[in-house]
Amino acid sequence: MSSLTPIRFADYDPKAMAEMTGRVAVLVTPEGSMDQAARSANRMAKGGIARLIESDGFKKAKAGDVISLNWPAGMQAEALDVLVLPRKLTPVEARQAGAKLAKVAAGKRLTVMAGSMNKAADLTLGMALRDYTFDDHKSPKEETSGGEVVVTSKTPADLEAACAPLLALAEGVHMTRDLVNEPANVLTTTEFARRIEEMKEIGLEVEILEEAELEKLGMRTLLSVGQGSDSPSKVAVMQWQGGDEGAAPLALVGKGVVFDTGGISLKPAAGMEDMTMDMGGAGVVTGTMKALALRKAKANVVGLVGLVENMPSGNATRPGDVVKSMKGDTVEIINTDAEGRLVLCDVLWYAQERFKPAGVIDLATLTGAVIIGLGHENAGVFSNDDDLCNAFLKAAKSEDEGAWRMPLGQAYDDQLKSRIADMKNVGGRPAGSITAAQFLQRFIQDGMPWIHLDIAGVASVKSDTSYAPKGATGWGVMALNRLVADKFEAE
Ligand code: BES
Ligand code: MN
Ligand code: ZN
Repeated sequence: MSSLTPIRFADYDPKAMAEMTGRVAVLVTPEGSMDQAARSANRMAKGGIARLIESDGFKKAKAGDVISLNWPAGMQAEALDVLVLPRKLTPVEARQAGAKLAKVAAGKRLTVMAGSMNKAADLTLGMALRDYTFDDHKSPKEETSGGEVVVTSKTPADLEAACAPLLALAEGVHMTRDLVNEPANVLTTTEFARRIEEMKEIGLEVEILEEAELEKLGMRTLLSVGQGSDSPSKVAVMQWQGGDEGAAPLALVGKGVVFDTGGISLKPAAGMEDMTMDMGGAGVVTGTMKALALRKAKANVVGLVGLVENMPSGNATRPGDVVKSMKGDTVEIINTDAEGRLVLCDVLWYAQERFKPAGVIDLATLTGAVIIGLGHENAGVFSNDDDLCNAFLKAAKSEDEGAWRMPLGQAYDDQLKSRIADMKNVGGRPAGSITAAQFLQRFIQDGMPWIHLDIAGVASVKSDTSYAPKGATGWGVMALNRLVADKFEAE
């Protein structure tokens, strides 16, 4: 499991820099103006930073870049990291700069001379987000030295207080990434449920509904997906009650297919290993609940995830089978690889019946089609409620998480008509992401504000992003946390 390099906040003391070990980061503007610590470091290093500022390399540097001077003269430090930062910057710029710094420091000892920099909290969040590696399954290398990040500030106590909720958020993001990166032989439905239950320690109320219970509730479509697997299907319910007693919660619902072979409609071998991330929606719900609990959000939020494995076997669902959902509607299963919607429809219905929520947001790595449409830059956003949808889009934008709204409509819904049941589970190739969303909308009650996020393209990617190394991104935790703060928290 990844763990954040410990971050400590301390007094800003440029004179102490000469004795600092590890890496030391100082601030210089793109115009070449040094702050107090940078001037001190420049003096200690016999004009090294001034020469850097005169160089062609510096002229080409962009805001947020880090230029490292290794083994600077006159200092104990092994490197002086010059952070090129304008004095006025946006939170996203500060985060991206922090992320670059963390990438350079790679978990080793680093002292950041933040001084009186504004947006130091965002810089710190960026460092925490990028301070991530998933190396649980690599044999340990020789002695990994215990790194530490020290952020020195003229107001360290204030900065520490401002960073507390942001570091809680980073822990939520890291939990999501850990879940999404984990292989399916480790992260079984049972192990996923165990990790969720561990969050009781941070004040979440957790229940795990087992197969017998799900059977009693009538969740046949969810159970039909998991019935070919030796891992038992489960639904986990996480409640965070930080808001007014009795106030309707926001419900977050996640697709947790721990591995998607396609079932009897078996997927091709090439790339099938990527389907370890098919529990990405459940991962985001879980990480968001963790962040909300750690920062003690003043809101009522309930997270529900359907945990199943989609496997072929003698007991697996066949194409052509008809199953009844908890709602009572019947579904003709044309393709057992369109399983996410079968899981979500029962969990969505249960969430609405039990919690009478103020709104529902579901997340799922639902369709390959959304990757064709939007690539890896934006999640597909589908909604029946402009207010909630616009609030989400705004939250995603301010958190630098790509999200793009897609249409819904009757003509798409018509593609789901079945000859023998109330609906079929696929609507053909055209508009595959939209017909998947239409399927889900059939399980949203009248008047219930709802957003469906298709995160198939953004949950895990094959190259580094600004905030994460290749692999799981944790996309969505920050946007949902921001939406809760903006729309659902008292004060
Ligand atoms: N889990 C997949 C969608 C997916 C594809 C996620 C690529 C991440 C990357 C989903 O269960 C699926 O198989 N969808 C099918 C639906 C089709 C059978 C209607 C798809 O997209 O091909
Ligand atoms: Mn599938
Ligand atoms: Zn799937």
